Amino acid sequence: MKQITVSMVKFMKEHPELKYIFFGGKGGVGKTVMAGAAALWAAKQGKKTLLASTNPVHSLSNLLEKDVFGKAAVVCDEEKCYAFEIDTRETIERSKREIREKINWFLKFADITTKADEFIESATMNPAFEESAMFENMMDIMFKDEYDFYVFDTAPTANARRLLGMSKVYSLWVEKMLKSREEAKSLREMLSFSKKEEKDPLLEYLLNFKDRMAHAKKLLTNASLTAFFFVTLPESLPIAVITRFINWFHEFGIPVGGVIVNGVIQKEQVGKDAAEFVLNRIQMQEEHMEEIWRIFGDQVRAIVPLFETEVKGAKMLNRLVEYLFA
Ligand SMILES: Nc1ncnc2c1ncn2[C@@H]1O[C@H](COP(=O)(O)OP(=O)(O)O)[C@@H](O)[C@H]1O
Ligand SMILES: [Mg+2]
Repeated sequence: MKQITVSMVKFMKEHPELKYIFFGGKGGVGKTVMAGAAALWAAKQGKKTLLASTNPVHSLSNLLEKDVFGKAAVVCDEEKCYAFEIDTRETIERSKREIREKINWFLKFADITTKADEFIESATMNPAFEESAMFENMMDIMFKDEYDFYVFDTAPTANARRLLGMSKVYSLWVEKMLKSREEAKSLREMLSFSKKEEKDPLLEYLLNFKDRMAHAKKLLTNASLTAFFFVTLPESLPIAVITRFINWFHEFGIPVGGVIVNGVIQKEQVGKDAAEFVLNRIQMQEEHMEEIWRIFGDQVRAIVPLFETEVKGAKMLNRLVEYLFA
């Protein structure tokens, strides 16, 4: 039907230095199973691979049928494949503690006698705080640099984009803070309020954060190192979701690896006398496949069939690998 070559392997060959890959898309389309299969494949290529979940709702343990929460573990029968689910709650608690310390310090520094709790509440009681704590977590894993290849099962599609977009704002902010801090410092010295130089944890934190963001941005926008793949089903909503994501990512210069179509019913396995809803579904999928070719064309990397069972455990994952990297 279509003469477009669909190949994940070809993409990987053309990107030999690829190190960080992500799977984005609507909930339930198969991001986690694709992440698992990609990690397994990379390990089979001889790369020491980490499959990491920074998603507050973990599903790797379920996928791999072994407990990988809060520790690093060997996965399946693949020696070089490690999986890891980050303890989200702990990360968030730690971030809150850090913020609390900084706010307390700042209030003292600025001679503000308000209770710190209100500030801390407003700084930490919002979903963006949790998201950014998880993003920081991901950055930590990347910067530790203990693996050759990283597959992130994460929900940061909107988040990565937002945070990377924010890094410019952070830079401006930090620069302004720096300047005013220096002015304040020299004023203090002139008036010799304080003889010895005081450490400024808030400023230190901001400077450090700015550096980390800049570093992450450099890695995540480098098309030889990073690729975001988008998973869709041949259905209208998941297609709409990834169309929007891909546009955002292009805007931010984040490299798009391509599109994976999942859950395609294999027509030849269905008899003419199949239940009507099955036949209707095939018809619907065919129409959406047309749309997928039209919108994504040569960005399509793989077409994965709908299996007879869910994808769980080494055997099914290996079967998925066969299709994803056909
Ligand atoms: N090609 C497929 N055939 C059959 N079941 C699949 C297929 N892809 C995914 N699944 C199942 O669909 C469910 C959702 O997949 P999952 O990877 O958890 O989605 P997401 O991470 O995008 O929310 C899981 O139960 C998974 O085993
Ligand atoms: Mg998932």
